[in-house]
Formats: sequence, structure tokens, C-alpha cells
Amino acid sequence: MRRFISLMLLLLVCAGCASSRQTMPVSQVSPEPTQPPTSSPLPTTISTPTLIPYPTLAATMPPNYIFDQNKRLGRGVNLGNALEAPKEGQWGVTLKEGYFQLIKEAGFTSVRIPIRWNAHAANTPPYTIDPAFFERIDWAVNQSLSRGLVAVINIHHYLEMFENPAAQRERFLAIWSQIATHYKDYPDSLFFEPLNEPNGALSYYEWNQISRDTLAIIRQTNPTRPVVIGPADWYSYSMLKELKLAEEDRNIIVSFHYYQPFQFTHQGADWAPGSDAWLGTTWKGKTAEKGNITWDFDRVVEWSKQKNRPIYLGEFGAYSKADMDSRALWTSFIARQAEVRGFSWAYWEFCSGFGAYDPVLKMWNEPLLTALIPK
Ligand code: BGC
Repeated sequence: MRRFISLMLLLLVCAGCASSRQTMPVSQVSPEPTQPPTSSPLPTTISTPTLIPYPTLAATMPPNYIFDQNKRLGRGVNLGNALEAPKEGQWGVTLKEGYFQLIKEAGFTSVRIPIRWNAHAANTPPYTIDPAFFERIDWAVNQSLSRGLVAVINIHHYLEMFENPAAQRERFLAIWSQIATHYKDYPDSLFFEPLNEPNGALSYYEWNQISRDTLAIIRQTNPTRPVVIGPADWYSYSMLKELKLAEEDRNIIVSFHYYQPFQFTHQGADWAPGSDAWLGTTWKGKTAEKGNITWDFDRVVEWSKQKNRPIYLGEFGAYSKADMDSRALWTSFIARQAEVRGFSWAYWEFCSGFGAYDPVLKMWNEPLLTALIPK
């Protein structure tokens, strides 16, 4: 709760730390996110001292390839609360063929598919992924690709990684080795994302090592596959400066997530402690409100130019307890501000608590859809 002590401080001074957040759905209690370790010393012990050699990236792509791939991501939506639930359906969303069609027809160009692979892999070596689960993911990926939607598949809610990354490292890498091998011949419209929102004990230092090793494994079978990676501390843009990527690997898209002002986007969200007190928070698009966002986004642009890496805003959204006018205004502002800076984006999420689509009424939430895809 430290970071919420002063809203004023948050707005005026600490735009950088503002991206720290709690994100677990209703049925889970997430650990307190780590403080942004901007000035903290490096850990004295390194749990993963041995780096897996990066294969020589023989297949080179034109310099613009990854920027073009990011453009193809374009405007997307997260198929949240389905395959990253402990079991699909447990959080109220079971993916249907019709959903992919609706998303395509609405004008989106990509989907991000959060997946809890770790709940479907053995706990002992070789950590085999359940073949039936693989089939289900194949189905979701094929539903996307067959409609011309780019698909991003990730590992989402691998909670044990955030508690003890060293103990999970071997299993995490083994899961990625299987995913990478399984999809190696899929078209380049399928993107991989190693891990959603590293946080907790998975510090930026550990994350730099493990994400690099994950990439090294992925590159053995997928030398040119676009891979999406975000910084530690819940994909906070303020942690981009700590993100270390293999310089020679140019087929990386860098992601961040954005839910600021948190008291607005997460009001009444039961996984954000104290958030009932924020109910009634509006977002009117006042100059100062807009300025906070554009300032944050401009920092991302600076980083991206300096590093020559394309940017994907992989999650943003305002929870259903906020008023619809504010939600639509904020959503539209974020989407357009991302677009003018060349960021691709994916709204969080399709048909659950932040839902752009209402699965009960079987209708798009029009103000949100129009905010995302203007008519
Ligand atoms: C989490 C969701 C959460 C959302 C907004 C996502 O990264 O996976 O569970 O609802 O962020 O907090």
C-alpha cells in the first residue's frame, strides 16, 4: 500500500513508479508488488549464473522486419480470464469460435492469448505439457491465424516464478522448450511472449537472465519468430531502463502495460486492496490528466528510439466499476496516444470484468468498441 499513500505524490512526482500494481483476478490474492528498484543495489547472490549460449542467428531478416511485424499486431484485444484461469471456464470465460469472428469483424488485427501453461505441465522432469491442453491452444491459435489475426501466446500467472524463480527456472525453460518446438513451423503471425508481468522475487536482475535464457532456447527452434518481452515490476514502463536484451537479437518487440491512474482503472476491483475507496473516480480528459499519460508514453518513445526496438502496449483497460463515459474517454485517449507513437496495442480484455464485449447480452459494449476502433 506504500505506493498509494499519496495520490498527489503519485500524480505529480512519481509517474515512473505508477505502473506498479496488483493484478490477480478475484479468486487470487497477489503478493505486494515490489518497489521499483531504481536505486536498489544488485542482489549479492545470483541464482542463475550460467547462461545458455545464444544460437547464432543465421537467418537474418530485413532491418524493418520486426517493426513491420509490430504494425501487423496493430489493434488487438486480450482474450483474458479464459486459458490463464487454473482451468478454462473457472473464471467465467470459455473461448468460442464465434469470439474470434466477432473480433475480426470488429476490425481488430490481433489477439493476445494469456495461458497458464504451468497448470498443465508435469511437476517433475521432463515437465511434459498435457497433450490435450496443447490441442486446445492449437485450436485457439488456429482460430486466430485462419482469420488473419496475429496471435500472441504467453505464459500468464506462473505465480511460483514470482515466489522462487531459481527453483522454477528449469521447469520454466522446459515448458518454453516444448512450446517453441511445438510451434516452430507455424507462420510468423504467431508471436511468443515468455512471461506476463514478472514481479515479486523475480527481480529485474533475475528476469534479465531468465528471459535471455528463454530466448536462447526459443531461438534454437524459432530463429526469427517475433518474441514479445516486457520489463520487470509488472511490465512497468519505468523499468525499461533495467531491461537487458541480447543486442544481436533484433526480432524482439518490447511490451509495457498501462493502467494509470490506477485508482481510476482499478476502482472496486477486489484483487486491488482498498480499491472500494476509489469508487466514483472519474477521468475527464483534463489537461493534467492527459499530460500524465503523454509524459509516461514519451518516456517509452525515448527508450524505444535509443534501443531501436518496437513497442507493444500489451494491456490497458478500465474496470467495469468505473463510469462508462470515463472508461470510453480514457480508453480512446490511450489507444490514440499509443497509435501516434507507433505502439501496437491490446485492450485488456474481451468479455470479462473490463469487457469490450458483453457475452450475456451478446453485444459489443459500443462506447468501448468505438473508443478502440473508431468508426
Ligand atoms: C491480469 C488480470 C487482471 C488485469 C488487470 C492482468 O495482467 O492477468 O488478472 O485483471 O491484469 O489488473
